[in-house]
Amino acid sequence: MSAFRLVVVISGRGSNLDSLIRYQRQGGYQIAAVISNRPQAAGLEIARQAGLDTAVLDHQSFENREQFDRELAALIDRRQPDLVVLAGFMRILGAEFVSRFEGRLINIHPSLLPQFPGIKTHERALQAGVQWHGASVHFVNAEVDGGPVIGQVRMRLRPDDDAASVADRLLPLEHRLLPRVVALMAEGRVSYAENKTCLDGAPCAEPLVLNVDADCWEPGRGDP
Ligand code: GRF
Repeated sequence: MSAFRLVVVISGRGSNLDSLIRYQRQGGYQIAAVISNRPQAAGLEIARQAGLDTAVLDHQSFENREQFDRELAALIDRRQPDLVVLAGFMRILGAEFVSRFEGRLINIHPSLLPQFPGIKTHERALQAGVQWHGASVHFVNAEVDGGPVIGQVRMRLRPDDDAASVADRLLPLEHRLLPRVVALMAEGRVSYAENKTCLDGAPCAEPLVLNVDADCWEPGRGDP
C-alpha cells in the first residue's frame, strides 16, 4: 500500500512541522511537501534540512485572498495529498478553498475548542479563570477554528501561570498531539462525514483525548 501523503502548510517557526517529521515512520505517513506563505518562515529550513520538497507562496504578492487560495490549492493538488495539515498557518482560508479540501484539511489550535477560537488563546484562558486549557486538532470548515474536533490534549493551569509559561508547557503537548492524530487518520480510523468527526465509522460525540503519560487515546469526558 502506498504511504498516506501529507502536505503541511506553515507560516512560521515550524515546531509542529518538526514533530510531524520526527514521527513520520512511526505514524505511517509521509510528508510530500511543505508550503509556507512566508518566505522567511523558520519552518522552511527545518523542512529543507529534512530533505523535504518545499514551496513558498507569498500572500503579499497576490491581489486578493481568492487568488492566493486558488494558487495554494493548485500547489497542494500537484502533490496529490491524502491530507492537508495546517501547522501554524496564520491566514484565514476562504470558503471555496475549504470546501475543496473538506474532510482532508486539519488544523492545530492552542485551546480546548470550542473554547477560545481565534488568537491570544492563553491570555484569554487565564483571564477567564478556567482550570483546564490545552490544544485541539480539528477538521477545518468555513467557520474559523469551528470545525469538528478530532483530538485534544489537556493541561491544568497553575495559579502563577502567565501566557508565556502556558505556551512553554503546552507546546510540547501539541507536538505529541498532532502526529498522533495524523497517524490515526493514516490508519483510516478517523474520517469526516456531514461536518462530524467519525472514529471507526461512527460519529464521535466527544473529541478523543490524548493521555500523554500513557501515550494512548481516551474518549472525551466532557469537562475534565
Ligand atoms: C502552535 O501553537 C499552533 O497551535 C498554532 O500556531 C503555533 C504554531 O507553532 N496554530 P509552530 O510554527 O508549529 O512552532
